[in-house]
Amino acid sequence: MVRIEDVVVSFDLGGGQEHTVLNKLSLEVKQGQTVSIIGSNGAGKSTLLNSIAGSIPLHAGHIHLNGEDVTSWAEWERARYLGRVRQDPMAGTAGEMTVIDNLALAARKGPRRFRIATPPRFAREMERKLAELGMGLESRLRENVSRLSGGQRQALTLLMAVISHPTILLLDEHTAALDPANAEIVDALTRRFINEYDLTALIITHDMKRALEQASRVIMMHEGEIIADLSGPEKEKMNVAALVRLFKKVRGSEYAEDRDLLI
Ligand SMILES: Nc1ncnc2c1ncn2[C@@H]1O[C@H](COP(=O)(O)OP(=O)(O)OP(=O)(O)O)[C@@H](O)[C@H]1O
Ligand SMILES: [Mg+2]
Repeated sequence: MVRIEDVVVSFDLGGGQEHTVLNKLSLEVKQGQTVSIIGSNGAGKSTLLNSIAGSIPLHAGHIHLNGEDVTSWAEWERARYLGRVRQDPMAGTAGEMTVIDNLALAARKGPRRFRIATPPRFAREMERKLAELGMGLESRLRENVSRLSGGQRQALTLLMAVISHPTILLLDEHTAALDPANAEIVDALTRRFINEYDLTALIITHDMKRALEQASRVIMMHEGEIIADLSGPEKEKMNVAALVRLFKKVRGSEYAEDRDLLI
């Protein structure tokens, strides 16, 4: 469960100037729910996920995860509840470490057990999990991650995000840098992991079609606010054109996006 109450985030622009990026934003996502987050560039989508993860300080408001007020918790303390994947395939893994050592680190997430040791049983289990990704990684356990393709790396990052059994998954355009075929594979994996691990998921995407398909609820953000929150029958009858119209109606301006992404 994720509950965000009246969260304000501003960045200091210098010279006494402040830029308010999240403006008293509130949102509740129930256990097991998947939510797509869409919105124009600079809307505050990444900032929202960063506030949940504790990567940036809040100016005001509260964050609850699994019923606990984690507002004062450090990023590493919150990490036990959270799995995260960002857009850049290079960011989620340590390139100069092997596949199995990356997985071992992820499995022992948290500051106390920062010891890399890979007993054979762990390696066998990981081989099985990697085979399930369908990317041929099960035979590359001892290779450095830097030798993998972007798609393979992102699939591995996703596996690393769920391997410590978090309850909440935060995905920030995690397939945007991949070619369509790999994006499709990683998207299918995402759906499978969300079901298999019974995760609450917040997924940022610029792909409106995907946003509608992958989640039972779609949130549209603009200038630090949630301007539409669609679920139930209202969401079911939505399509991409209707989402674009809705944006125009709410904001009185065109959706500032590359047309290609809307189809
Ligand atoms: N560390 C920072 N310092 C100053 N301004 C920031 C910082 N991080 C984000 N911003 C600003 O906050 C606003 C929202 O940024 P954010 O990255 O959350 O947008 P976004 O919705 O994720 O956009 P995109 O779709 O382009 O990823 C932007 O105007 C951005 O410039
Ligand atoms: Mg972003």
